[in-house]
Amino acid sequence: MIEHSRVEHSRVEHSKVAVIGAGAVGSTLAQRIAETNLADVVLLDIVQGRPQGVALDLMEARAVERHDRSIVGTQDYADVAGADIVVITAGRPRTPNMTRDDLLGINAGIVAKVASQAIAQAPEAIFITVTNPLDVMAHLVGQVGQLSRERFMGMAGVLDAARFATFIAMELNVSAVDVSAMVLGGHGDLMLPLARYTTVGGVPLPELMSSETIDRIAQRTRQGGAEIGKLLKTGSAYYAPSASVAVMVDAILRDRHRMLPVSVALEGEYGLQGLCLGVPVQLGADGVETIIELTLMDAEMEALHESAASVKAQIGKLPDVG
Ligand code: APR
Repeated sequence: MIEHSRVEHSRVEHSKVAVIGAGAVGSTLAQRIAETNLADVVLLDIVQGRPQGVALDLMEARAVERHDRSIVGTQDYADVAGADIVVITAGRPRTPNMTRDDLLGINAGIVAKVASQAIAQAPEAIFITVTNPLDVMAHLVGQVGQLSRERFMGMAGVLDAARFATFIAMELNVSAVDVSAMVLGGHGDLMLPLARYTTVGGVPLPELMSSETIDRIAQRTRQGGAEIGKLLKTGSAYYAPSASVAVMVDAILRDRHRMLPVSVALEGEYGLQGLCLGVPVQLGADGVETIIELTLMDAEMEALHESAASVKAQIGKLPDVG
């Protein structure tokens, strides 16, 4: 036991996470990773000075926060070398009048470019994509790097489930900590918040709420990103997104075998293949360890396939990345 904890401790001690894109999500993620002592962070952004400024600010916070993690800001991909995990947040954020689909062309160009440069420097890393449209960009990274499917994924399910859990907790006036929520499908309007697999303190949600209330909350969850975008007016959500990525980084670096909803490449699971889609997986040191296939009712399976069809249609519009 002691031996094991020593090994785990040293793994985290020497860990390095490269965050590509030092915008709102990237910089809050860097803060979370460094200040929870998870890993050293390299922040890379195309804008001169931006990652350097964020990194210096975070370095100055160390004396107050009392940690020794290094945060480096850079434009140079050589600094990504040796990263255990690369998180891709580079791209344009969704603004209130933009759908996620509008972003496809712009962000595909950015993500393909940054992914190939990061993969060249850190060929052994695990890749987590955050840039929208999420499932499509996660798929693109896998294609660009010809990565095995354990090693690339998209962050969305943890965020969508957190939003679903939050709205359930608000409705029932219970702690969000006691809500274990499940959301399947693409990170878009067709995502599938699953009440049957959602519990509050172990009690299945349908026993605590009417189906009308569940439908209303599920709809708010699907629109969760847009709701925040409208309030912020410029930019999109970043606190809950960065917290969700940090949970995945922690699961991988600490080899925790967490069971989380993650956008992963499907190869026949749920009758789907050739795309990344949000399903429950086990996450550990090797990345995606297991894909969990839930038993779905016909209507749920149909809804999941509808969501998959929308992601596939977008994949069909991707430029050829060779
Ligand atoms: N290389 C590196 N960085 C880039 C590149 C590039 N080619 N192109 C853009 N960036 C950087 C921008 O300079 C910016 O600092 O990506 C960063 C994106 O940050 P924000 O605009 O603040 O966006 P953010 O809110 O962090 O969202 C990032 O995550 O949730 C999704 O929809 C969201 O796709 C968006 C992404």
